[in-house]
Amino acid sequence: MKNKIKSFMRSILWSYSPASEREAADSTARNFLLHWFPAKIATRSISFSYSMVLGTIILALFTILTVTGLVLMFLYVPSVGHAYWSIKDLEFVIPYGWFIRDLHRVAAQLMVATVFIHLMRVFLTGAYKQSTTVVGSYRPLNWWIGLALLLVTMMLSYTGYLLPWDQLALWAITIGDHIALSAPLVGPAISKILIGGTIIDQNTLIRWYVAHVFFLPLIIFMLILWHMWRIRKDGGLAAVEALGTERIQQDKVVAKGKTYSLMGIVQGITPTITQYRVRGESVNASPYVTRRILVIFVFVTAITMALAFYIKAPLEQPANLMWTPNPAKAPWYFLWLQELVADTTIRIKGFTISGGFVGGIIIPTVLLLFAAAWPLLDKSTDAAIGVWFHKSRRLQNTAFLAVVAVIVILIYVGAVMRGPYWHLYMPWQAWIKMPTRF
Ligand code: HEM
Repeated sequence: MKNKIKSFMRSILWSYSPASEREAADSTARNFLLHWFPAKIATRSISFSYSMVLGTIILALFTILTVTGLVLMFLYVPSVGHAYWSIKDLEFVIPYGWFIRDLHRVAAQLMVATVFIHLMRVFLTGAYKQSTTVVGSYRPLNWWIGLALLLVTMMLSYTGYLLPWDQLALWAITIGDHIALSAPLVGPAISKILIGGTIIDQNTLIRWYVAHVFFLPLIIFMLILWHMWRIRKDGGLAAVEALGTERIQQDKVVAKGKTYSLMGIVQGITPTITQYRVRGESVNASPYVTRRILVIFVFVTAITMALAFYIKAPLEQPANLMWTPNPAKAPWYFLWLQELVADTTIRIKGFTISGGFVGGIIIPTVLLLFAAAWPLLDKSTDAAIGVWFHKSRRLQNTAFLAVVAVIVILIYVGAVMRGPYWHLYMPWQAWIKMPTRF
C-alpha cells in the first residue's frame, strides 16, 4: 500500500525514473539547468533535519517575487502623480490585481524572514567554518556571499516599500533617511544618494523604482548563482564534511582530491570529501533532489497563495509630507533599529551623541563586522562543522541566540508597544487619541 501511494505520488510529481545509474548521472551532466547539481548527493546533506530546506524555500519565494513583480510592472506607474492611483486601480479595478499585489507583498515578507532564519541555521550548524583537513574548499566565502544576500534582500524589500507612495511608505522612508543623516561626515551624502535631493519626491521614487525592479533583483540573482556554485565547489553542504571527518577518523584515510576546471575559467581541486560516494550514503541528484525541489516550489507557492488571500497589503492615505503620522514606524525588519535609535541617545555634560548615530549606525555596523569576521575568529573543532548545536560551540551559540532574542524583543516592542510620540504602552493599554487629518 505504502509503495502504491509512493509510486502514485511520483507519477503525479515527477514521472521520470532512470533505468540505470549511468542514465541518472547523464541526466544531470547533459542538461543545462541540472548541470549545477553533482550527479550524486550525500543523503545526509539533503536531510530535512539538517538544512530544513530553507535555502530552497528562499529560492521559491524569489521566483514568486520575480513572476508577480513582472506582472505588477505592467500596471504600476512610477510617478508621484500616478503611483498611488495605479495601486488603487490594482486593488479595485484590475481583475485579481489585489491578489497579485498581496502575493508579492506576502512573498517579500516571507523572504526577508526566511533569509534571517536560514542565517540562523547556518550559524547554529557551524556551516561557515573552514575545516583544517579538507583541501580545495573555502566555506567562509559562502557565508560572506550570504551576508551580502541578506543586505540586498532587505534593500530590495525596503525599496519596494516606497512604491505605493502612501503615508506608510513615505514616513518609513523618512525614518531611514533620518538615520542615514545622523552618520557623521558621510550622512548628508548618503541621504542625497538615497533620496536624490533634499526632499522625498519624484527623484526618490524613480531611483528606488529602478533599484527595485532592476539593479537589486539582478544583484540578488548573480549572488544566488555564486552562492550555489560555491556550495558545489566546497564539496557540498557542511553536513557532508561532518561525514568526511567521521570517516577519516574511522578509516584514517584521506581521499584524493580531483582537479576541475570550467573551460579553463576557474581551476582548482575538489575538496577531499568524496568518500560518501559509497552505496547507501548518496543518491542520484536527478530525480531525487530535482523532485524534492519541485515539491518545495509547489508547496511554497500554495502556502504563499493561501496567505495572500488572508493578509491584505496595506494602502493608507496618499503620501503627504505636510502630515506626519504619529507614531511613524519603519518596516518590521528595521523596527529593532528604530527602537535602538530611540533608546541610545547619550548625553554627557551638554554633549549629545544622537541615538540615530549610536543605534542606527554604530551598533548595526559593529554587528555586521562581527558577523563577517566570525568564520575567522571561530576556533571550534572541525567535528563541529555541519552539526547542530555541537558542544564545542555552546558558548558562541548561546551568545548568538541572545543577540537574536534581543533583536526579536526590540521588534516586538517597536511593533506592538510603541504608540503616539513613541511612548511605551503595555499591550492591554489604550493609546491616547490623536487628531485625524483625513
Ligand atoms: C537570497 C538569500 C539566500 C538564498 C537564496 C540562499 C540559498 C541557499 C541554498 C539553496 C543553500 C543550500 C542549503 C539550504 O537549502 O539551506 C544555502 C546554503 C548556505 N547558505 Fe544560503 N541563501 C541565502 C542567504 C544566505 C545568508 C543570509 C547566509 C548567511 C549569512 C547564507 C549562508 C549560507 C551558507 C554558509 C550555506 C552552506 C550551508 C551548509 O554548508 O550547510 N545564505 N543557501
